[in-house]
Amino acid sequence: MYRHTRKLHLLLRSLLLSLITLTSVQAAEKIDLIIDTDPGADDVVALLFALASPDELNIHGLTTVAGNVRLDKTSRNARLAREWAGREDVPVYAGAPKPLMRTPIYAEGVHGEEGLSGVAVYEPKKGLAEDGAVEFLIGTLKAAKPHSITIAMLGPQTNLALALIQEPEIVQGIKEVVIMGGAHFNGGNITPVAEFNLFADPHAAEVVLKSGVRLTYLPLDVTHKILTSEARLRQIAALNNNASKLVGDILNEYIKGDMEHYGIPGGPVHDATVIAYLLKPQLFSGRRVNVVVDSREGPTFGQTIVDWHDGLGAPKNAFWVDSGDAQGFFDLLTERLARLK
Ligand code: RIB
Ligand code: CA
Repeated sequence: MYRHTRKLHLLLRSLLLSLITLTSVQAAEKIDLIIDTDPGADDVVALLFALASPDELNIHGLTTVAGNVRLDKTSRNARLAREWAGREDVPVYAGAPKPLMRTPIYAEGVHGEEGLSGVAVYEPKKGLAEDGAVEFLIGTLKAAKPHSITIAMLGPQTNLALALIQEPEIVQGIKEVVIMGGAHFNGGNITPVAEFNLFADPHAAEVVLKSGVRLTYLPLDVTHKILTSEARLRQIAALNNNASKLVGDILNEYIKGDMEHYGIPGGPVHDATVIAYLLKPQLFSGRRVNVVVDSREGPTFGQTIVDWHDGLGAPKNAFWVDSGDAQGFFDLLTERLARLK
């Protein structure tokens, strides 16, 4: 009799231990995240992707910035994405209405007047948070545990730059900044050498680069390798829920410009690659490099200069992602959209 009780005790003990390990491993994997964004068609897809992933992403807030369209519209569109994802628990903080120094530029030609071509926009039910984005970034990062907060940057880096200028010590709270932006091998999409987010505020990108925080860049070099296709759009449409209908309608409009401009068979979903990188980094590869941003007026304004072969031996200040698994990206995006209504 004693032997059976002993065996049962040992069995229960090992079950309990593996349960504790499993929970602690899962808890350890949750990312504390702030998403800074200028929605923007691909931003909205990225936001739905992220908001559909609460098991991995603990989203403290969305901060909006002028970029693809003016701030009032990027802020409304971020609130729309939050409503469509059923995540009105996530606050939206409006940020900078213009870049640090340069004349503001927008991309209505790509994203439509309202910043979201392909779908009807309207005033979402829930409003903005009281605080501004810069105030929220400073307050959150100053109070955060050391190097605990990840920031996903999906637009011009103005908000984070302003926060760093105002309170440089906020670097203590930053674990990593994952940026959609820049171009090296691919060439630019707003000038022959510059990508839009960097071109829209190169001075802000310089401030972030010089802050010394851990940086990962997802440039056009990788986003232009992760393209939609008829089959990939069909796999999303086959979900047959509101989210997949919204994403289909948004992407069908959004990709037209790039397909025509580059003569490619599909379009990139730039900002959503940042979310896929956070959820499944093994889908991507790159290397640590030295990156500098050109903020001088002239033909290379906004260019990211990447020392891919370390010719200068300068400090490697960023992880530069240059390739990714396109089908793996669309499978993950589809699987997450399936979780939404
Ligand atoms: O160059 C692509 C980037 O610029 C994306 O973030 C898109 O939303 C625009 O902001
Ligand atoms: Ca964007």
